[in-house]
Amino acid sequence: MARIVGCVNTSHVPSIGKALALGLQDDPYWSPFFAGFPPIHKWLAEVKPDVVVVFYNDHGLNFFLNQMPTFAIGAGPEYVNGDEGWGAPDYPPFASEEKLSWQLINHLVDHDFDMTICQDMMVDHAFALPLKLLFPNQPKCPVTTVPISINTVLYPFPSARRCAALGKTVGDAIRAWDEDKRVLVVGTGGLSHQLEGERAGHLNPEFDLKFLDSLTREDPNWVTQFSSEDIIEQVGTAGLELIMWVAARNTLQGPVREVHRNYHIPISNTAAGTQAFAPR
Ligand code: DHB
Ligand code: FE
Repeated sequence: MARIVGCVNTSHVPSIGKALALGLQDDPYWSPFFAGFPPIHKWLAEVKPDVVVVFYNDHGLNFFLNQMPTFAIGAGPEYVNGDEGWGAPDYPPFASEEKLSWQLINHLVDHDFDMTICQDMMVDHAFALPLKLLFPNQPKCPVTTVPISINTVLYPFPSARRCAALGKTVGDAIRAWDEDKRVLVVGTGGLSHQLEGERAGHLNPEFDLKFLDSLTREDPNWVTQFSSEDIIEQVGTAGLELIMWVAARNTLQGPVREVHRNYHIPISNTAAGTQAFAPR
């Protein structure tokens, strides 16, 4: 049976792609963010994931306001990365783990999550950059992937509570997969940030740090007491992306070990967090 080897959550600011392309990891602006990754690389080299399931939010590339699924899952032959014009080189398409996609789709629909099934799906920086950060210095991403997209673009948004339930069900579906594979679950986005409007530049380190602490507990769902509107009030419109972290963290059962944590303000008006967990 498949095994979940751990969970990594991280922010996904597009300019990270440019920084990676230019080799700016040691630049004073970037180094506090990139410093969060070497301990996670060391741990990944030990747990050796074969497959990565990524919870992320599409920012208008594959889904736009005319068609916006609340929860969507990829079941395509591969996932092509869309260029967003930040000057980062295109990454080669990400390999698909189609059998796991269909295992998840069947299990999720059986358990009352009516997923939008995408047999053709482009992925943006929210999917591509975290994989590039986790598996650097390789021409092609070395793991197969399953993208799961959660709407944080068009009202109304799914609640953190619902995303926790989605994560739990995805975790159960992975554990029930009849393949001897090691699966890593990744959640991308957040932490506090707002890019537009009167509150552009809004950050909330106090809330972010409470959230990071809450995810280390056996019951990680402190944040599910809040509505999406309350979360936006606290962490900004784009800060709602932290619901990806909630979904990803909930795929793990029981007590966890925090492998590593990094928190740095700001990268492009964003409170950038990275946090990894292993099952105990
Ligand atoms: C930016 C974009 C994002 O999607 C995000 O999550 C954070 C920052 C940006 O354009 O700076
Ligand atoms: Fe984003």
